[in-house]
Amino acid sequence: MKFIFNMAPAAAAVGACLALSACGAAPPAAAPASPRDGSDAHRLVALLDYVAGDYPRAVRDGTVVSPAEYEEQVHFVGEARSMAAGLAPTAAAPADALLALVADVESRVRGRAAAAEVAQACRAARDEAVQLFGLRTMPTRRPSLADARGDYAQSCAVCHGAGGDADTERAAALDPPPTRFRDPARRDDLSPFRAYNALTFGVAGTAMPSFDGLSPAERWDLAFYVLRLGHEDEAERGPVTVTLADMATRTDREMKEALRREGAADPAAAVAWVRREGAFLEAPTGVGIDRTIAIGWLEGRQRFQGRRRSQGRRRVQARRFDARQRSCGRRINSRQRL
Ligand code: HEC
Repeated sequence: MKFIFNMAPAAAAVGACLALSACGAAPPAAAPASPRDGSDAHRLVALLDYVAGDYPRAVRDGTVVSPAEYEEQVHFVGEARSMAAGLAPTAAAPADALLALVADVESRVRGRAAAAEVAQACRAARDEAVQLFGLRTMPTRRPSLADARGDYAQSCAVCHGAGGDADTERAAALDPPPTRFRDPARRDDLSPFRAYNALTFGVAGTAMPSFDGLSPAERWDLAFYVLRLGHEDEAERGPVTVTLADMATRTDREMKEALRREGAADPAAAVAWVRREGAFLEAPTGVGIDRTIAIGWLEGRQRFQGRRRSQGRRRVQARRFDARQRSCGRRINSRQRL
């Protein structure tokens, strides 16, 4: 695996982007315009997310199982430290906490800590950077399955294969080969956010190009779609209540573990449901994205139970459900920190 993040701005983030728009406090006058999709702050967040996903390939039970992977992880955390230091003066608020959290990641990686510890440290640093720089780690609307299908066939299938098996002529000529989304071991390390980052920045040292010419919404559609592809033909069991934020940032492994902790009878089948159905459930017209989580659950349940309701009735229910969701919003937010 090669994922080399350059410090140079990503070609000025071709096509100003909305997905990672600034929010919260206004930056000081000296700071650059709001950090955007493809910015260095986004790059730092992507890098931390990447280390969280790939560190388990390098170290197992305190032992280095792949020296090349380990060397790469050490290199990345060093890079994350200098990126954070470079970004600190541009932050809207003091970045001491971020610097400390990134240093913590580095010392754990250098100390060959357990994968779960490193992942947790990476998530803490990532979440701090997301807050500090006003980034987003989820789409601003539900992913569109129809759009993703068309874009995938047009831009990705040539290398990754129509069904995600990377079984094409082009793929056979590439080293490293394109990711096989249907390989469960690969999928376990992938989240839509990570796929989104690969689409934004490309994967240096491989044939995976940057697709930053696509809009953020299009990249998110594709990011969710490749995770969906991986689960085709699998048994699914739903509905399951998972927020869009969690769907976006959790790898399959993390989601399976979370669902197991919550008592899901068959966590693997529940993840298959989330990736195939839950992520793409539409909210009734006029309902904001924050409310689609609950509505997604509701509609999933209706479908699951084979009940058909009129659109009007569903909307009434959605409104009722909204109140309940607001009350559980705090729990959802706290659960975002993995
Ligand atoms: C020219 C060939 C090519 C095309 C076209 C291509 N990819 Fe890739 N892609 C690759 C290769 C090669 C890798 C493997 C990189 C590696 O080993 O880390 C890859 C890796 C990925 C990954 C995994 C990144 C990670 O962090 O592990 C994702 C997700 C991905 N591609 C999505 C897409 C999508 C979506 C499209 C279409 C918009 C696309 N790719 C188009 C060659 C391609």
